[in-house]
This record gives sequence, C-alpha cells and structure tokens, in this order.
Amino acid sequence: MKPLGEFLREHRPLWHPRAFYGLPLPWESELPELARWLDAQPSRHGPFGDALEWALSGPPPLRDWARAAKALAHVDPLPHWSKRASAHTQDVGSERASVETQDSGSGRLTPQATAAGTDGVALSRRVLDGITGKKQAQLLAFASVLPPLGQRPLLDWCGGKAHLGRLLATLRGARELLVVEHDPALCRAGERLVSAKGAFGAPGKPALKAMFHTVDALGAEARALAEAGCDAVALHACGDLHGALIEHYRGKLVAIAPCCFLRALGPDGLATVLSAAGRDAGLRLDANDLRLVHESPSDAGRRDAAAVDRVQQFRLGFDEWLRAETGSDAYTHMPACPPQWFALPFEDFCSRFADLGGHPKPRGALGEFEAAGVARFEAVRRRDPVRAVFRRALEVWLVEDRAQRLRERGFDVTMGTFCPEGVTPRNLMILGRA
Ligand SMILES: C[S@@+](CC[C@H](N)C(=O)[O-])C[C@H]1O[C@@H](n2cnc3c(N)ncnc32)[C@H](O)[C@@H]1O
Repeated sequence: MKPLGEFLREHRPLWHPRAFYGLPLPWESELPELARWLDAQPSRHGPFGDALEWALSGPPPLRDWARAAKALAHVDPLPHWSKRASAHTQDVGSERASVETQDSGSGRLTPQATAAGTDGVALSRRVLDGITGKKQAQLLAFASVLPPLGQRPLLDWCGGKAHLGRLLATLRGARELLVVEHDPALCRAGERLVSAKGAFGAPGKPALKAMFHTVDALGAEARALAEAGCDAVALHACGDLHGALIEHYRGKLVAIAPCCFLRALGPDGLATVLSAAGRDAGLRLDANDLRLVHESPSDAGRRDAAAVDRVQQFRLGFDEWLRAETGSDAYTHMPACPPQWFALPFEDFCSRFADLGGHPKPRGALGEFEAAGVARFEAVRRRDPVRAVFRRALEVWLVEDRAQRLRERGFDVTMGTFCPEGVTPRNLMILGRA
C-alpha cells in the first residue's frame, strides 16, 4: 500500500479540490494547456464512469496519471475456491454457478449459473427466489471465492435479511447462522424467510438454526459475537460497521466486502484510518474525498440523469446569485433541501433555498443566474474527469488499509475482487485467515 499512498499524496492537488466549489482549480495555473484541452472536449455525461480509460488516451500529463493510477490500483480477482480445493467435491456444483457470474460481468444471473446452481445443491430456487438479479450475482460471486468454512457457526455481519448467510448455509452446510442486523424489520423478514423456505442446510444435512440479533454492530453484544470464534462474512457493511468487525473479529475465517466509506469519519471530519501503515501514509481524507470513491456512472436513465444535473445546476445558479448579492468569491455551502424543490421554477427554488440558508429572498428575474448555473455546471463537468482518474486508487487504498489492519492483528490476509465492477462497484474483498 506504500507506493499507492505515496502516489495519492503526491497527486492530492489533482483529486482533492472539487470544481463544483470553485474554478479555476489550483492546478490550472501550472497546466493551462490541459485546462484548454479539457474545455475543447465534448461535454461528457456521467464523467466518473470510464474516466480512467478515457484519460489513458488524453494528452500528457493526464494520460501519465491515468497509467500510474491504473497500474497502482490494479487488484487481481480472488481465486475461485472450487478450482483450488477439488477434494471438496460436494460443493463443486454450486461453485460452478458462481464462476459464471464472475466471468459474465453483466450483473445478471446467467442461465448457466441458475442451472448449475439448482442441480448442484438445489440452492437457487429456495434461497435466491425474490432477490434481484444483480444481488443474486453478488451473493453467488461472494460465495464462490470464499474458502471452505469449518463446522463453526457462521456470522453474517450487517446481514440485512441474511440472504448471504442463508446461501452460504445451503452451499457450505453451515448448521448455525448468527446474524447481526440493527433493523428489526429486516431481522423479522429474514426469520420469516428461514422458516417459510424450510431447512437451509445442504441436502442430507440437519436443518439450519438461524438466530437474528437485532443489535447495533458497534455495540457490546455485536462485539461479543465477533469475538465468539465463528466464521464471519460481511457483504457491503458500511464504514465503521465493517471497521468494528476488523477490530474485534476472533476466529478462523473472515470475509469482508467493504462499502460506504463515508460512514467512517472521525470527530475531526477526516476518514478513520485503521492500520498503522495507513496512518504513516499521512493521507488526510475528508468527506468530499470519500464521496469521490462513491461517484460512479449512474445507471439511471437519461431522464433521471437530467434531473440529477438540474440539482447541481440550480445549486450553482443560486450560488451565482449569492456571489453577486454578497460580493463573495467563494462557494457558500447550503443545507440539503427536499428533492421536490428542484422541480420548481428557478425563481421559486431560489426563494425557498434562500429562506433555508437564512439569506434575504432574491427579487426580480433570475434568468441570468439560472443560465450562469448551467454554464458553470458544464465547466465543472469538463474538469471532473481529472479528479475521477484517482477514484479507484483511493478506494483501493482504503480497502488496503482495512486489509492491513487485519494483518496487523495477526491474520493472514488476501485482498482481491470477488466480481466485476458491473455486478457491484464495491467489488473488493478482504479475506482473513487465522
Ligand atoms: C448495504 S446493507 C447490506 C446488507 C446485506 N449484507 C446484503 O448485502 O444484502 C447494510 C446493512 O447494514 C445494516 N446496518 C446499518 N447500520 C447498522 C448498525 N449500526 N448495526 C447493525 N446493522 C446495521 C443495514 O440495516 C443494512 O441491512
């Protein structure tokens, strides 16, 4: 993680400042040709998706940053357990189901996957019924890279309805499933799924005993479960919640796919860094930096995308008005407002927004500020891809920090992808073995 940390530290002036808050960006005075080149590019919709690939064919130094970011943030797929442990033939059929999802990249459960799953250990109808295709693909992919479980209870950390726990119990024959989940409605729904769909143990094995613990993953009861020696899985447990499992887990096998890094901010407003090696890197990541990790192409349709654009255009238009009104040349942070406000005419939006922020109400026609907001939004959109070149590198560094913390706690740790980014953008997994 050291080279990646050094790379990110060195290039902080490129990924830390947000064009949304003000232009020109600090790097533009040193690289005016790059700024001109960006301005000459056609407006790109959804700049964060393929920014890295796009930048690879840009001019230097953009393409050099992109090459370095791509190389340093490269993470190999985790090996499929079925290929490495052929002695465990009992589970091989089900493992094949997941292999298809890792290879397909489509996010949909392929017909081959469904077929292989159902004839392998009769898993899919009972466990995956009613779950969306993308979620099914994530669950199967997660299961496919998980090494053999022991005879220990299985802990599904922030498990929701415990789809993953139930799937793993079926595939791997765990007899006892413990679930940590703070939402009582999800726990009850999970309990209903266990009882309605019958025994979830592998065929020929005793029925699954499932226990949902409606508790806070940051509390003492959850900690006691993390320390109880179970095998543990956490699919998309948010920031401090997967952090708690990393800090307290005691057992033989833990598999974590981290998510929502924004939920791991310290009281100083900076990202919680778990490992000593991570702290040595001296990367001070604030909420905006963590938001960058989660900015990815929206798979919303064009109409939804236009609505998302309008939110930013209105906010920027209001900021233009406020700057003119107050003489300020800095962005004024405004509170969140009801999403319906962005469907109002701009004048009405500004009137309510001004009230919300404690500013005097704008008077008269505001058309010029609305137009200025749209123009500023276009300029922002032309700059944002530079920042986005570093998106994956930041994410990989954050997950490496978590992996390193587990290593510092004495585990043998592997980090890799468990599925393609099309199945879930949060596709990195940390596997720790005692
Ligand atoms: C992104 S979902 C993942 C759910 C499940 N692992 C899956 O992949 O389907 C995160 C889960 O964490 C739960 N959660 C959020 N805060 C929690 C807390 N403080 N303690 C326990 N669970 C929490 C949510 O209710 C939600 O079910």
